[in-house]
Amino acid sequence: MTVTLDRNVEAFIGTPRQMFINGQWVDAASGKTFETPNPATGETLARVAEGDAEDVNRAVRAARAAFDGPWGRLTPSQRGQVVWKIGDLILEHVDELAQLESLDNGKPFLVAQAADVPLAADLFHYMAGWATKIEGNTIDISVPYMPGANFHSYTLREPIGVVGQIIPWNFPLLMAAWKLGPALTTGCTVVLKPAEQTPLTALRLAELIAEAGVPDGVVNVVPGYGKTAGAALAAHDDVDKVAFTGSTEVGKLIVQAAAGNLKKLTLELGGKSPNIVFDDADDGAIEGAANAIFFNHGQCCVAGSRLFVQESRYDEVVDGVAEIAKSIKLGSGLDPTTQMGPLVSDEQFTRVTGFLESGKADGATALAGGGRFGDRGYFVEPTVLTNTRPDMKVVREEIFGPVVVAEKFTSLDEIAAEANDTTYGLGAGIWTKDISKAHALAKKIRAGTVWINCYNVFDASLPFGGYKQSGWGREMGHEVLNNYTEVKAVTTLL
Ligand code: NAI
Ligand code: MG
Repeated sequence: MTVTLDRNVEAFIGTPRQMFINGQWVDAASGKTFETPNPATGETLARVAEGDAEDVNRAVRAARAAFDGPWGRLTPSQRGQVVWKIGDLILEHVDELAQLESLDNGKPFLVAQAADVPLAADLFHYMAGWATKIEGNTIDISVPYMPGANFHSYTLREPIGVVGQIIPWNFPLLMAAWKLGPALTTGCTVVLKPAEQTPLTALRLAELIAEAGVPDGVVNVVPGYGKTAGAALAAHDDVDKVAFTGSTEVGKLIVQAAAGNLKKLTLELGGKSPNIVFDDADDGAIEGAANAIFFNHGQCCVAGSRLFVQESRYDEVVDGVAEIAKSIKLGSGLDPTTQMGPLVSDEQFTRVTGFLESGKADGATALAGGGRFGDRGYFVEPTVLTNTRPDMKVVREEIFGPVVVAEKFTSLDEIAAEANDTTYGLGAGIWTKDISKAHALAKKIRAGTVWINCYNVFDASLPFGGYKQSGWGREMGHEVLNNYTEVKAVTTLL
């Protein structure tokens, strides 16, 4: 069984895709293209213009001119209406975008249709409202060394300028929305580099952005590889800020690249999030724990990849998660009966199966899964590993696949320390009927998001980001506006 492809999707992947610079669709300056494969088959899905430093230069020039020109002349209300319209246009093309996402990333079409695409629209709608609500303050100042003088002081909150945005492949459209929404609503202009594995929905979104009435040059999309296009954007002297989502390893390279002009940075990096089930948890915790790790094939920065279960419920909960793992139907994302698609790429497939091998070599037991599924495409079985030790690679490092390690704990104090025993601090889950205990533990956990009796709940109004090596700054909510604006203090002697 397979979903019938939308006519627009057929046309979109049927011809090589160009890049979007200054409101025009253009080839790479080098003339090069690269292929984006279909991860369910490994075959070529589409060819895409391959941007490099030269294209990034062109795009940054366009973004600078738009920042100094047409975009800056719009009123906040006009800007908000344009951002709102992007959300509307996404909703008019839900199936098309969800199909493209499924083909390019591998995720089930029905999941993209229900979650990724509506969430992306909602992000633009949420952010649109902020355009007219970005305010400074008036401040009554004292200046002790100028007795008798009177002043009028106020702050202005201004757009940060030209923003480079580098995004990953796990939620390609949604990550583009998380980045573009706040940039546009605050009045910034953008050069967006989608992940080389999944450039298609960002390119389709650029068409919708133009249709919404965003002036030329405000949003530029330059597909290409990290080491070339991405690195050029991160190092560019005329980029005022870079917003990056991806691996902690590349996050550190971005920090180095940004040192040249000390551009501002926000980083949303990896995780190894604890998901903690107390002995008084509702039975829903079992399904919750499975969803926490297996959603999006484990390719979530917040994946609940370390499952901790209190002693008396350990066997029941871990066996229950393993049963769910075994029951998950893997297949092509376009098959409506598919519950889990392939991993995004050959590289990720090799990486995740490599972790499974290392777990086995270190003595871990696979209670469910443990290897490849099928013989073509990049499918990996949903896997539950037990008999792990805290020093194992599978316990310490982000796997970014459908692999959970399960461990026992005894008390609240012990679990807080274990949960925090990681270089990351992105997410955490707590499952208990004792709400005081849940809040007490939520306070002790060093992570940017804590879910109680739920997991993977996202909303445009909730700030998202990491403690420790999970990142700098926050996305979404009104918190993100601070990361796209500069504050200017203006003082007048009266
Ligand atoms: P990555 O961090 O290499 O890629 C993310 C983005 O950064 C892509 O757009 C890529 O082109 C770009 N990039 C790569 N190298 C760059 C450089 N030197 N300068 C500027 N941009 C660069 O992630 P990758 O290799 O796709 O996946 C490796 C691991 O990273 C995964 O297994 C996972 O652990 C982690 N990851 C975490 C994500 C998250 O949401 N926190 C998302 C994607 C990957
Ligand atoms: Mg990489």
